[in-house]
Amino acid sequence: MSWSSLIPATSFMPIQATEIAKEVDLLYAFLIIASLVSFVILIGGMTWFLIKFKRTSVDQKSAYITHNNFAEFLWSFIPLVIMMGIFYWGMVIFEKLRTPPEDVAAEIHVTAEQWAWTYRYANGKEFYSSANDPMIVPAGKATKLILTSKDVIHSFYVPAFRTKQDAVPGKLTQLWFEPKQPGEYIVFCTEYCGTKHSGMMIKIKAIPSEEYAAWYHAEKKGADSPADLGKVLFAQKACASCHSIDGSRVVGPTMKGLFGSERKFADGTKAKADENYLRESILVSSAKIVETYPAAMPLFQGQLSDEDVANLIEYIKSIK
Ligand code: CUA
Repeated sequence: MSWSSLIPATSFMPIQATEIAKEVDLLYAFLIIASLVSFVILIGGMTWFLIKFKRTSVDQKSAYITHNNFAEFLWSFIPLVIMMGIFYWGMVIFEKLRTPPEDVAAEIHVTAEQWAWTYRYANGKEFYSSANDPMIVPAGKATKLILTSKDVIHSFYVPAFRTKQDAVPGKLTQLWFEPKQPGEYIVFCTEYCGTKHSGMMIKIKAIPSEEYAAWYHAEKKGADSPADLGKVLFAQKACASCHSIDGSRVVGPTMKGLFGSERKFADGTKAKADENYLRESILVSSAKIVETYPAAMPLFQGQLSDEDVANLIEYIKSIK
């Protein structure tokens, strides 16, 4: 949107490092201007009426209007239209902020704990947050984060990207962004999580995508990739005795093409198979039973760590 360049780069806001940041700021600027205009109309009008209709003597009759349908309609209907417009505008931006594109260049599992972040890449590169290990992402390409927490609720907030997402224990949430330029962007935890809450600051470092590819494939810092570890676990837990990986029907649904597909359940509801759905189905499969299948899968809650679950999910995602 070219008209979003109306917002001066030198405003009091943090830099606009993504396209969405510009859109958020434009809406924000509109809200501020609309508030100012409303303020002038309301307070200015009131002041003007105070002066114009000032009672100058005791026996002067006061102006007394009981009712005016037209005026009341106008001051209800016009604000309603403006408010619905703002609602729609915000909804469109929110939808963009919440929906990662189909092809993301990097997917990173982010685990929050008191008081640090760990990030793990699809090939097993793993970092425990510190100033020396910024989260490396490609510039000009989309990155998706899959967040969870080991203890309390934390929140991953990147002011320059105008986006944030809670990291919730026992749940997977996601966040995506596409930094336009290489650079370093600060990340705050914005959910009060204890003594060193303010110390949960890390940096995202966006580097040109060719450089990113070289960095990504260079010497690994972690062990095997999450998908490889998930594959081992899939065999160890005998998942294959009920779930095929080639599309054939066994006791339970096949894993082939499962991720991202639409699931229909025995109770008539539907859901898209995202990370959080896979997590729930692995731990407590009875929560959502896929139609035409029996509720036969044992409970894995308490038997798999968060990391095990993340690894299984990455393996399932790789079975296309
Ligand atoms: Cu983690 Cu606040």
